[in-house]
Amino acid sequence: MKIAVSGKGGVGKTLIAGTLARMFAKDGFKVLAIDNDSAMNLSYTLGLDEGTKNQIIPIKEMKSMIDERTLVKGAGPGVYNINPKVSDIPDKYKVSGPDGLQLLVLGGIEEPATGCLCPENALIRTLLYHLMVKRDEVIIVDFEAGIEHLGRGTAKGIDLMLVVTEPSQKSLDLCKKIIDLSKKLGVINIYLIANKLIDESQKDVLNERIKDWEVPLYHSVPFDPEIGKADLNGESPIDFNQTSKGVQAINSLYLKLKKLKSEIFDL
Ligand SMILES: Nc1ncnc2c1ncn2[C@@H]1O[C@H](COP(=O)(O)OP(=O)(O)O)[C@@H](O)[C@H]1O
Ligand SMILES: [Mg+2]
Repeated sequence: MKIAVSGKGGVGKTLIAGTLARMFAKDGFKVLAIDNDSAMNLSYTLGLDEGTKNQIIPIKEMKSMIDERTLVKGAGPGVYNINPKVSDIPDKYKVSGPDGLQLLVLGGIEEPATGCLCPENALIRTLLYHLMVKRDEVIIVDFEAGIEHLGRGTAKGIDLMLVVTEPSQKSLDLCKKIIDLSKKLGVINIYLIANKLIDESQKDVLNERIKDWEVPLYHSVPFDPEIGKADLNGESPIDFNQTSKGVQAINSLYLKLKKLKSEIFDL
């Protein structure tokens, strides 16, 4: 099952992606977590040890490897292969984390307008396609705030798109865009998750705001100071306090997804 987590910056994508990855792994699933956000902080939420964290080089920064894969010999500058060989990259560059899970740090995809180097985007896109379509494990991708870089190819393998919102109109507006774009790209299972809710009345307000949406609110996670404390310590929330109300709510999301997996995807 391939799960993508998206939403505005700061809403809790990394918290939810990383904690779900740990829960699948604890339960015995083979898990590959993918960090595709330019902030690249999934390793903290996953609880990787310091040594492993320091050893990570994001794929995006492996300039000579990217050149070697994408440059077309003798073609001169500006010509590169947009479909480079990537199948060996995940196993070569992933690192191991707790509960047997594995992490591959890609780095974000910048839009051409920001002056990106196109070969690295081409490589990461091809890699995402490969991961989503060809790999046979639980894959959880922590995406960049926007999903504009997704194309039909990369969206193709996404079984579940979790769109995370906090109780704010700005965040909801971006969710609407992400949902519309995901649908256009052919993603069928889109789930809206509310995070950082202070009380039930906020859930009511959110439900009222989205009453015309085709995608209802699937799950909510309360605001939980324990998550902030874990972050301050540089620890993973699940290791810091497994019984906190935020981690518990993510655990009940995990159980729903696991049920969904067995009902829909393991046919
Ligand atoms: N349910 C929650 N309760 C309290 N703080 C939270 C909660 N979810 C996320 N946070 C805090 O919000 C900040 C952003 O979370 P993060 O997962 O990094 O968001 P994103 O990946 O979407 O940018 C972090 O400092 C995190 O500790
Ligand atoms: Mg993040």
